[in-house]
Amino acid sequence: MMSATPSVAPASSGPNAQGQPDCARTAALAALRESDPATKAAAARALYAAALAGSAACSAHLELDEPAGLPGRPERPELVDPRQLKRRSMQSPQGRAVLLHALAHIEFNAINLALDAVWRFAGMPAAFYTDWLKVAAEEAYHFSLLAARLAQYGHAYGDFPAHDGLWDMCERTRADVLARMALVPRTLEARGLDASPPIRARLLQAGDQASAAILDVILRDEIGHVLIGNRWFRHLCEASGLDAHETYTRLADQYHAPKLRGPFNFEARRDAGFDEAELAALASLDAQQPVPPTGSA
Ligand SMILES: [Fe+2]
Ligand SMILES: [Fe+2]
Repeated sequence: MMSATPSVAPASSGPNAQGQPDCARTAALAALRESDPATKAAAARALYAAALAGSAACSAHLELDEPAGLPGRPERPELVDPRQLKRRSMQSPQGRAVLLHALAHIEFNAINLALDAVWRFAGMPAAFYTDWLKVAAEEAYHFSLLAARLAQYGHAYGDFPAHDGLWDMCERTRADVLARMALVPRTLEARGLDASPPIRARLLQAGDQASAAILDVILRDEIGHVLIGNRWFRHLCEASGLDAHETYTRLADQYHAPKLRGPFNFEARRDAGFDEAELAALASLDAQQPVPPTGSA
């Protein structure tokens, strides 16, 4: 488990002392080091706004050294092995609070993942950085929505234990932008597309329309994140003369990506840029898997 790092100043969004626009990649690293979730979320949103306004340009050539203790995160939640996390019934308010907390933790990690893509990988086209700054800002929005909903249940981010699977994949792919694109947006975030409809249905079944509405916003944006992952994965494959399908299979194996399991959200995956061959491969995987018993989704 990693310890929390000291809080650092949030990303500034204006010109620096020399009157030059701040480098958004340097500012993304500062936001990644920020340990307070609300401050980090605000920094991520301010940084994307600054990039859109032209006051935070990206220096693609900058090779930044990795500081110790990434990512900045609060003392709580306690990080535990995923097997220690119990499922709770969505029928009780406490069970729904635990679910909202787990989703908030995913979004907190997702802010970190997007900021990490911005600062870590030098030499990419300008649009790559803008895309990932946009993702970071949207993840920050998702985190804020869930934190506010959690507060309505009388809880705050940090109140329940969580696991660190998302950041683990970030670490494994730290030296390989192609693997990062393959395995974070195209694999882990894409699994979120599949997970969303059954969770939404269970929230509605429990009468929690407000939380279900937040899931609608998140699903809409997450389709865009996976689309961005697909765009840059294919861009990198084409630039190196690699076959995208073979390369994905090789990287998933090499980096021990989680095995894909249905049911899949084919509509969302199609909108997110998976091609017909990839969707057909998922459909055949789905057909091989036993249907889970009712109520276990
Ligand atoms: Fe998100
Ligand atoms: Fe996302």
